Amino acid sequence: MAAPAVPDTQKAWVITRRGVPAQAVHLDTKFPVSKKLAKGEVLVRVQAAAFNPVGYKMMGLLPNFVARRPHVAEHDFAGVVVDANGSGLKEGHEVYGWIPLPLKLSTKQGALCEYVRVPAQLVIPTPPGVKTTEAAGLGLAGMTAYHALFATTRLEPGQHLFVNGGSTAVGMLAIQMAKALGCTVGASASGKKEGFLRGLGVDRFVDYTQGPVYEQLAKDPPSPKYHVLLEAVGTADPLVYTRSEAYLAPGGVFLSVGPQPGVGGGFGGFARLMVALMTPKVLGGTKAQWKLISVDDRRSELEEFGRYIEDGRVKSVVDSVFAFEDVLKAYERVMEGRSTGKVVVKVDPSVE
Ligand SMILES: NC(=O)c1ccc[n+]([C@@H]2O[C@H](COP(=O)([O-])OP(=O)(O)OC[C@H]3O[C@@H](n4cnc5c(N)ncnc54)[C@H](OP(=O)(O)O)[C@@H]3O)[C@@H](O)[C@H]2O)c1
Repeated sequence: MAAPAVPDTQKAWVITRRGVPAQAVHLDTKFPVSKKLAKGEVLVRVQAAAFNPVGYKMMGLLPNFVARRPHVAEHDFAGVVVDANGSGLKEGHEVYGWIPLPLKLSTKQGALCEYVRVPAQLVIPTPPGVKTTEAAGLGLAGMTAYHALFATTRLEPGQHLFVNGGSTAVGMLAIQMAKALGCTVGASASGKKEGFLRGLGVDRFVDYTQGPVYEQLAKDPPSPKYHVLLEAVGTADPLVYTRSEAYLAPGGVFLSVGPQPGVGGGFGGFARLMVALMTPKVLGGTKAQWKLISVDDRRSELEEFGRYIEDGRVKSVVDSVFAFEDVLKAYERVMEGRSTGKVVVKVDPSVE
C-alpha cells in the first residue's frame, strides 16, 4: 500500500514570543510542512516528541529577533522517514533524532509537530524492542551524556565517576554508559530516588536533601578519588567544584552542563559559577580542571551512543507520556524539575 501523501500543512506547537510556555507556545493547525529538502536532509513523520529543560529556558530568555520566532518547539523526536531524499535511510524506517539549538534557530524546525525536516546525520534507526515513546527522548540528553564522558573527557574502564544529578535524563544515561564500561559510579538525587539509581548500578548514593553534596563527598571520599565529576543538574552549588580537591583525583576533571540561564539556573547561578572559577586557591578556589559540556552534532557520536541503545546496555527511561493536545501540561511536569526520565508527548496516539 502506498504511503499517504505528505500534507502541505500540519499541527504544530509553535513558539511565537518570549515567555513561559502557557504564554509563548500555541497550537497552530495550519503550520507549513517543510517538504522541500536540501541535499542531506530527510523528512520524518513525527510519532512522539520529548522535552528538555533548555526548551522552556530559552523560551523565557531569548528575544524574538535572536530566536527567530515563530518556530516549532522542542528538540527530540521519534518517527518514520517519509522522504529519505537519497540518504542511507529508507522511507518507512523508524528513526529517532534531535535538532541542535543553532539548527533549530536557523531552520525553525522543531519536534512538537507532525513532520520535521532534519539533516539525515541527526537521525538514527530505532532498534527493535525500543518503543517509539522511549526512543523519542534519547537525542539531546543522550548526545550530551555521550559527549561529556567520551569527547569532553575520555572516561576509561575501571575509573570512578560521580554524577551530581544522577536522576536527571543526562545523568541517568551517563551512569548507564559508565557502568557498561566497568566504572565505579556515585550519584546524587533526593532520597526517594535511591532505589531507582541503585537499579541503574550506582555504587554510592548521596541524598542531596541530607546536607550539601560537597560535604557528604568530602567526609567520605572514595579511594582512589573520582576521576570524573559530572555536574548534571545545571543549577547546582559551585562549592561542589571549589571543594572538589577532597574527592576529585589529581588530574581529574569536573564536567558541567551549565549553569543554564533562565528559570532555575538564572544569572545568579552563572555569576556564582564565574566567581568559583576565578577564585584563586589561596582564597578557597581550586585548580581542578573545569570543562563546560557543549553538545556536538557529530554523526560518529550519535552512532556510538546508538550502539549502547541497540545492544541494550543503556535503556531509555520515560517519566510520563502526554497527549499532543496536552503539551502545556507536559511543560508543567518538565518545569517542576522532579521528573525521573523523559517527559514525552505522543503525536501519533497509536504508537507505544
Ligand atoms: N550543556 C548542554 O549541552 C546541555 C544539554 C542538555 C541538558 N543540559 C542541562 O542539563 C541539566 C539536566 O537536564 P535534564 O534534561 O537531564 O534534567 P531533568 O531530567 O529535567 O532533571 C530532573 C531531575 O533533576 C533532579 N534534581 C533536581 N535538583 C537536583 C539537585 N539539586 N541535585 C540532584 N538532582 C537534582 C531531580 O531529582 P529529585 O526529584 O531527586 O530532585 C529530577 O529527577 C539541565 O540544566 C539542562 O538544561 C545541558
